[in-house]
Amino acid sequence: MIRILLPAFALLATAAAADTFEQVKIDAGAALFETACKRCHSVEADRASYGPLLTGIVGRPAGSFEGYGYSDALAGSGIVWTPAALRAWMEDNDGFMPGTKMRHVGIEDRTVQDFILAYLATLAE
Ligand code: HEC
Repeated sequence: MIRILLPAFALLATAAAADTFEQVKIDAGAALFETACKRCHSVEADRASYGPLLTGIVGRPAGSFEGYGYSDALAGSGIVWTPAALRAWMEDNDGFMPGTKMRHVGIEDRTVQDFILAYLATLAE
């Protein structure tokens, strides 16, 4: 019995550790978002603040939050916010897409990008 249960338990423990790690990333991302993004981006209310609402942003076409007055650069970009695009945007938004209204943020640390991405992915529409 023990011999059967032990591997199952080990598997469960690994899954729990992975879950915990994911949660730690999300929590860290939420804190980073709070300092780096939240003053311009609402995530709870169904409205834009100074910047567009970011719910459902991972996988959303750029410039598609209805009612927000996007710059031509962003509205006409034709891109989709994949994780890679969001990384490039966080790293150097002006370099990635010149001419938008978003002030430059330069988050070059990949781990910090990872954390913010993990948090953004939880913002379902
Ligand atoms: C100083 C205010 C400000 C800060 C800080 C800021 N943003 Fe923005 N953000 C904007 C504005 C304004 C726009 C719209 C730009 C445009 O239309 O040209 C925007 C647009 C975006 C978009 C495109 C949304 C869409 O609907 O296509 C994403 C993604 C984004 N910001 C993510 C972030 C993240 C992540 C952070 C934090 C790391 C951040 N922003 C920090 C003001 C800000």
